[in-house]
Amino acid sequence: MEHYSDRRYLVSFDSAMVPQIFADVLVIGSGVAGLRAALTAAEGGEVLLVAKGQLEESNTSKAQGGVAAALDKEDSSALHMQDTLDAGQGICDPEIVRAITAEAPERIEELARWGANFDREDGRIALTREGGHSMARIVHALGDATGKEVADTLIRRVRETEGIKIMDGTFVLDLLTMPEEGCVGALLHDRSRGPMIVWAKATVLACGGAGRIFRETTNAPIATGDGIAMAYRAGATLTDLEFYQFHPTALYVAGASRALISEAVRGEGGILRNARGERFMPKYHELAELAPRDAVSRAIVTEIRETGHTCAYVDMRHIAAERLVRRFPGIRDLCAQFDIDITREQVPIRPAAHYMIGGVQVGFDGRTSVPRLFACGEAACTGLHGANRLGSNSLLEGLVIGHHAGDAARRTAESESREAPHTRFKVRLTAARTDAIDVADVTDSLRALCWRSLGIERTRFGLDEVAHMLVFWGRYVMAKEFRDRAGWELQNMLQVASLLTEVAMMREESRGVHFRTDFPKTNDALWKTHLDVSRELGVQQRRVEG
Ligand code: FAD
Ligand code: SIN
Repeated sequence: MEHYSDRRYLVSFDSAMVPQIFADVLVIGSGVAGLRAALTAAEGGEVLLVAKGQLEESNTSKAQGGVAAALDKEDSSALHMQDTLDAGQGICDPEIVRAITAEAPERIEELARWGANFDREDGRIALTREGGHSMARIVHALGDATGKEVADTLIRRVRETEGIKIMDGTFVLDLLTMPEEGCVGALLHDRSRGPMIVWAKATVLACGGAGRIFRETTNAPIATGDGIAMAYRAGATLTDLEFYQFHPTALYVAGASRALISEAVRGEGGILRNARGERFMPKYHELAELAPRDAVSRAIVTEIRETGHTCAYVDMRHIAAERLVRRFPGIRDLCAQFDIDITREQVPIRPAAHYMIGGVQVGFDGRTSVPRLFACGEAACTGLHGANRLGSNSLLEGLVIGHHAGDAARRTAESESREAPHTRFKVRLTAARTDAIDVADVTDSLRALCWRSLGIERTRFGLDEVAHMLVFWGRYVMAKEFRDRAGWELQNMLQVASLLTEVAMMREESRGVHFRTDFPKTNDALWKTHLDVSRELGVQQRRVEG
């Protein structure tokens, strides 16, 4: 398949027309991973933190359920590790799982020390359950607004930290790389000042996921896969891209932008019903409503098909109203805006694209295959999630790997004796004729197509159709030089969707969130592997030992 790999940069380079700035460590992204990375990186030098919107615009800020950590005295990081491995269906990296689950309590205590107001019961941090977790180990805040509390806490601390300079409203177009040196910075476009170059001794990519390639998604508008696309163009190895997680329960009401109805609702006893009012999950999985997300999403799709109705329902009417309102104030308010009283009425839901399991391949310290380039959070793939992610493990991963990536980037910058600049690089945005392209129209078409054929159920036939259309759109979209965010995001979405399609096509089995109706069984003999992809080597199969 074509991946537009001849283009290294989204815009052309020319002479020294743009401002150049310097940083020891450049951090791209203001979600949990980027914020956490910036805080540790700033312990040793000047950090520049860049975000394309306001700092608060992120998937992190939308997170509801919580952060997983074995805090209960009956619980242990060994149990947390085992649950994570079970969900990952044979392809997690056990060493990464061990290290991240072991560090979880420390990262939670640190956040609490920094002022995060986690919900408490009898003075202790309150814990709830989510699908696939054998114990109550989900730490939450403000009922169902954990992500906002985590983000606000970290943003506050970042703003108070000397040595962190913030540039919001600044779109990173591409990473700048040199053959011997690896990543030397990035090309930015600031909303008010235009293009500029930042030279950095180390760069941390924390740009989040790519849920916006799907029409139905819980993700924030920023989640257009920019980090994954720019890492690919810069030569980094990506992995596990075919594993994209769909959340079973997004609010299905016209105008509600597929807002999430947290899995914690089912953790607190919420029941799934079909249009006939029947509870259906027990017939699909022994864990019923708390089965892994892939199983619940597929069951809902089957029930929708069989009942011929447009959605299924979450029923919370049997839960004490006082408890519902205390635990889920955000969901209560959200539904109320659409005239749904969650204490008296069922909530219409459908699955939606939620979490990018694959991403830039990294180790525990966030190191990528490109020297001086680190990645963390949803843009990265550590091997924690394997083929299916346990709820509430990704904020945790962002906190842990963000901290270690920030530390490794700081150490890399400290060991760098030479001062930037690399004045050999000069940039100018060329005037480009893109007026014939209706970017919003292509974007909508891409999202509809990916939802239909790259979504919860995949077949070779459907994937072929996606591949064909992506190549066609790519021919007239990728060759152009756009001058605004919507165009650059479309190019990144096309890049990510085409990579995802190629590996989804290759994996002729079903495992975790990757479900092929034409290959419905898991095939360990052939496919207990990762699929790594890079510009240089194309797709390579990497066997999982054990
Ligand atoms: P994000 O938080 O998405 O931040 C990405 C950042 O990158 C943003 O600042 C953005 O501006 C910046 N960026 C992107 N592209 C560019 C560019 N080109 N130039 C400059 N900046 C750029 N996980 C859990 O563990 N528990 C939960 O309860 C939970 N609930 C969720 C609920 C919802 C509705 C969603 C969508 C996700 C949820 N998740 C949850 C998943 C989790 O929130 C995310 O995986 C995690 O927050 C990702 O963090 P991040 O730092 O990697 O990226
Ligand atoms: C949720 O609250 O259901 C989302 C949790 C997650 O995605 O980890």
